[in-house]
Amino acid sequence: MVDPEQLRPPETRGHYSVANVPAAWYVACRSHELGEAPMTQTILGVPLVLYRDAGERAAALLDRCPHRNVRLSLGQVDPEGHLACGYHGWRFDGKGRCVDVPGMLSTDEAAARGRSVPAYAVREQDGFIWVWGQPDTDPRGEPVRIPFVEDPDYLVVHREYLFESTLHAALENALDVPHTAFVHKGDFRGQGERQSIEAVRRRIPDGIEVEYEGEKPLMGDHHDEEGRVIVQKHWDRFFMPSVAQVEYKTGDQRHLITTLPHTPISDFQTRAWLVSCWKVPGLDESGREGVEAYLDQILAQDVEVLREQTESLRRFGGEAYRSTELDLMGPAIWHMLKQSERGLDPNASDISRRIQLSV
Ligand code: FES
Ligand SMILES: [Fe+2]
Repeated sequence: MVDPEQLRPPETRGHYSVANVPAAWYVACRSHELGEAPMTQTILGVPLVLYRDAGERAAALLDRCPHRNVRLSLGQVDPEGHLACGYHGWRFDGKGRCVDVPGMLSTDEAAARGRSVPAYAVREQDGFIWVWGQPDTDPRGEPVRIPFVEDPDYLVVHREYLFESTLHAALENALDVPHTAFVHKGDFRGQGERQSIEAVRRRIPDGIEVEYEGEKPLMGDHHDEEGRVIVQKHWDRFFMPSVAQVEYKTGDQRHLITTLPHTPISDFQTRAWLVSCWKVPGLDESGREGVEAYLDQILAQDVEVLREQTESLRRFGGEAYRSTELDLMGPAIWHMLKQSERGLDPNASDISRRIQLSV
């Protein structure tokens, strides 16, 4: 019999770029998705129940009743805003405290504390429900803001995608320029001659920014009143531990900024919530469907290549990556995630770099 272990290339050693960073804000769902009925969402492999209490405040608890471990998301929210388990009716408040055991007459405060459910801090911000990934702790800081999401001058498009990949692979893909000429050939790069441009990588608070200089505008050349070509600016950004952002700006006229909070559902499943804000002359509500279709087409290609990547990693039992200077984001993101997982400062190292590349 062939031992599959024997087939594994020696350098693979079962390594996957999976870091567990629970002390952070993750998107659980869109604000409008959370109504009266409890819903469930898994973050970092942990099933949570989300619901709104009497004051419409969003709450998140571990999706497991402490009594007989039935899913709390099968229960109901009562008029007082308590979540009642669907099996024996134990009721919980938004802090996870058990406030009622139906039929039980004795009261014992200490015992009641033992019946509580782990509770997760929640924020409702920029149209999303964000959950702090560690239960029963005070969050450090607030979720990353999503710029221009409420600006009336912008067409704001929301999409949602599920990647069969690690969080790290999904983030790298969102912020990687070289793949666009191949995976998205003809859709926004890979047409015409390559041009030489400069990329500058720098540290931003709790993140990484790469700025591209001299790139040909994605939507064709734009000229100022004197007929000079207006340069396009392009930044890719990463914010710890799971937000990607891509921004293009051409003069004051055109501005396109896409922010993607990612939610690691499990080691190899990652959800991306895409918020794309477009300010382009002549583009209004009537262009929404076109923008949505364009984004869906691009992202379907990324979903596919990430699925293929994960399948290949599984086939070989791990990663054996060889990076070059063109991989400006992936290794730097991995370093930050790993530092954070180890309880070290993710911002500690100097990542400044300037390279020439052709796109
Ligand atoms: S399992 Fe939830 S109340 Fe019994
Ligand atoms: Fe892509």
